[in-house]
Amino acid sequence: MEKSELIWLNGEFVKWEDANVSVMSHTLHYGTGVFEGIRARDSQIGTSIFRLSDHVNRLYESADAYSLPIPFQKEEITQAIKDSVHLNKLSSAYIRPLVFFGEGEMGLLPQNVPVYVSVAAWSWGAYLGDDAGNKGVKVCISNWKRISPQSFKPYAKGVGGYMNSTLAKIDAVNSGYDDAIMLGDNDVVAEGSGQNLFLIKDGKITTPPIETGALGGITRKTVIEIAQSLSVPLEEKNISIEDLKDADELFFTGTATEVVGVVSIDGENIGSGSPGDVTNLIRDKYLTIVNGIDADYHHYLTLVS
Ligand SMILES: Cc1ncc(COP(=O)(O)O)c(C=O)c1O
Repeated sequence: MEKSELIWLNGEFVKWEDANVSVMSHTLHYGTGVFEGIRARDSQIGTSIFRLSDHVNRLYESADAYSLPIPFQKEEITQAIKDSVHLNKLSSAYIRPLVFFGEGEMGLLPQNVPVYVSVAAWSWGAYLGDDAGNKGVKVCISNWKRISPQSFKPYAKGVGGYMNSTLAKIDAVNSGYDDAIMLGDNDVVAEGSGQNLFLIKDGKITTPPIETGALGGITRKTVIEIAQSLSVPLEEKNISIEDLKDADELFFTGTATEVVGVVSIDGENIGSGSPGDVTNLIRDKYLTIVNGIDADYHHYLTLVS
């Protein structure tokens, strides 16, 4: 990790190495926190954060879902996020706000436990590797099911839920794949370990509904808007393993991942075995938007200073 200088912790910036908490923090023991993943880019209009208000809103929704009352106003968190990029003199960055329970009473019920918030920003390149955008990624279907809406609130970015994603990611990488596709209840496709998934067949795009346990990704939302603007038909519909293997193209989306083609599943090529035309069309449009090249989408960009 390429450390930066400062981290915002509970209302003030402190040195990265001083942003510490007690090992008796509730969230360390029980996974009871929520977080966000946001990107700032060195865009055509200056260093700017993509869909900042959507990320801040999702952070508050996630916190609400898991009963963490955030002791700051949305405006304060928004400012902390912008400042975390600006004060660290980063022209592009990955930003990680985290809301967590600190040290207080032990036990599952988070009672008399303080709620803390941190915001870190640092330089972080392509999540699935520098080649992923051009070459695509190879995945397996995980033996681990995505957290069920009957056991968790998968629409919220809850810290504990990511143990499930981590299991899938570790197994995939240990078996020589870049990542994994996870099934939800009833064996319908949900998403990747940390990405949403889109399928293309006969020129039509399909993505699993969030009822499958998929996260309501902000990149997913952007891709749905892009498809509309390009008049590519898109439907939110359940996808089976057979549909996956019969797809013309597949791609992953996510803030860290961006838009990346999935070129094989369990060693079997999807389409030609390289990112397809529709994937490339959506990816190119996404990159022009997040990099501030498309003025129609400047309202999604927040300058950091
Ligand atoms: C499990 C999971 N699904 C999907 C996504 C993609 O969401 P977004 O596009 O908001 O980054 C993420 C990334 O945060 C994720 O962790």
